[in-house]
Amino acid sequence: MKAVQIFDTTLRDGEQAPGYSMNLDEKVRMALQLEALGVDVMEAGFAAASPGDFESVKAVADAVKSSAVCSLSRALEKDIEASAAAIRGAARPRIHTFLATSDLHLKYKLRISRADCLKRIRRAVAYARNLCDDVEFSAEDASRTDADFLCRALEAAIESGATVVNIPDTVGYSTPDEFGALVASVMNRVKGIGNVTVATHCHDDLGLAVANSLAGVRAGARQVECTICGIGERAGNAALEEIAMGLRTRRDAYGALATRIRTEEIARTAHLLSTITGVRIAPGKAIVGANAFAHESGIHQHGVLSKAETYEIMTPESVGMKQTELVLGKHSGQHALETRLKDLGYDLDSARLAEVFAAFKALADRKKQITDRDLAALAETRVAARHSGSQEWKLDSFVVNSGNHMSATAQITLVKGKRRVQEAAIGSGPIYAAFRAVEKIIRHRFTLEDYRIEAVTERRDALGEVLVKISDSKGAYRGRGVSTDVIEGSILALLVAVNRMMEAKR
Ligand code: KIV
Ligand code: ZN
Repeated sequence: MKAVQIFDTTLRDGEQAPGYSMNLDEKVRMALQLEALGVDVMEAGFAAASPGDFESVKAVADAVKSSAVCSLSRALEKDIEASAAAIRGAARPRIHTFLATSDLHLKYKLRISRADCLKRIRRAVAYARNLCDDVEFSAEDASRTDADFLCRALEAAIESGATVVNIPDTVGYSTPDEFGALVASVMNRVKGIGNVTVATHCHDDLGLAVANSLAGVRAGARQVECTICGIGERAGNAALEEIAMGLRTRRDAYGALATRIRTEEIARTAHLLSTITGVRIAPGKAIVGANAFAHESGIHQHGVLSKAETYEIMTPESVGMKQTELVLGKHSGQHALETRLKDLGYDLDSARLAEVFAAFKALADRKKQITDRDLAALAETRVAARHSGSQEWKLDSFVVNSGNHMSATAQITLVKGKRRVQEAAIGSGPIYAAFRAVEKIIRHRFTLEDYRIEAVTERRDALGEVLVKISDSKGAYRGRGVSTDVIEGSILALLVAVNRMMEAKR
């Protein structure tokens, strides 16, 4: 099979983007979904960056079985050692080391000569190769590197044992014609290039990351580095779903190159990322946005009904975008719920399943139609919550009063193990009052960093999904809560974040 390898860096370059940070458990969940999606390689992080990053890379490497797992390292022995140690448990480990090669970076960032740069590349790649059979070298800022020197740098990496050489457009400066020509010149001029895989890694500063990556593939690259929904540094990276569907839909234009991506898993993966990070997918996002397959105009609707291909170049099913509308009702049992949740990708333990079932029954009393999106929202709140049992604060009851001529008041009762604590507070609004009452109960102050509320589905009885981010001196903690009552959803979201904060304190 003529194939292009998909290298996903959602957990590294993607996670570097503001608002997309994930904790260890979230990274492992995302990694397992990336594996289900069929990525060939996943970059789990930058092991040397911090002890937390090391642990996350290690946890991903230990959990993932079929995709290769790699860790990024500067061209420094201590970074490479950290990567090697973190990925030791991986079924298919890879060390990824990088060094800038453009004169701009050599002069102003690294303050080294071209000759020193080549020496460092040789040393780093050879060192990594002693620790791991699969070593990738990236020439950072390759697209602004003198073309001859880039060839020398990649040759140095190949001679020292690199198995993959990567050509990043680090600052998203290139155009498709230029980038294709750059990859073609590397393919033609670098000694030993036939023995290694050539990769692209394009950023989206000019909105050209996917176009540049595909131009690289046409010129001979056989690994594309990308992220789910294109998240990443600044304007982001090339979007994995666009690359995979571009290659699949336009086989004629890209030399019939296949990927191993199970495209029906694309929507699930994008939604998991959105659920974990709390960042919504833009409605117009190609492939996975809510409008990507919506036909608003009458002419288009008529065309699609007569023959889908009139306005659809791929089917929603092929990317997993078809939602079952009405799935379960008030009389459905726990077994039916469990089966449906498994279809949605939630394999819950019995304690969590019982909690989701209780929430589902309560919701069925308030809401007529329960959709897959409702179920996913309910399941997510339980997956995200910690199970520290008696250590966890849980909502018992609340009463909130508010009006346009009065201060809002909230009375809240929380339970933790056998303790039951009630407090009341006043605030400029009901949510503020409720959060103050929670603060009094837990006897710990926090700052509200972010608060967002959105309807999960469209109807009047829609489930409201609340995302809360709080912080204290130790860090920031996110929580998600869902309810048809937005105040209840807000308190539930806050309690998830509070329990995470209290766990970090222990
Ligand atoms: O954009 C870039 O150049 C990178 C490298 C570290 C591969 O992310
Ligand atoms: Zn990058």
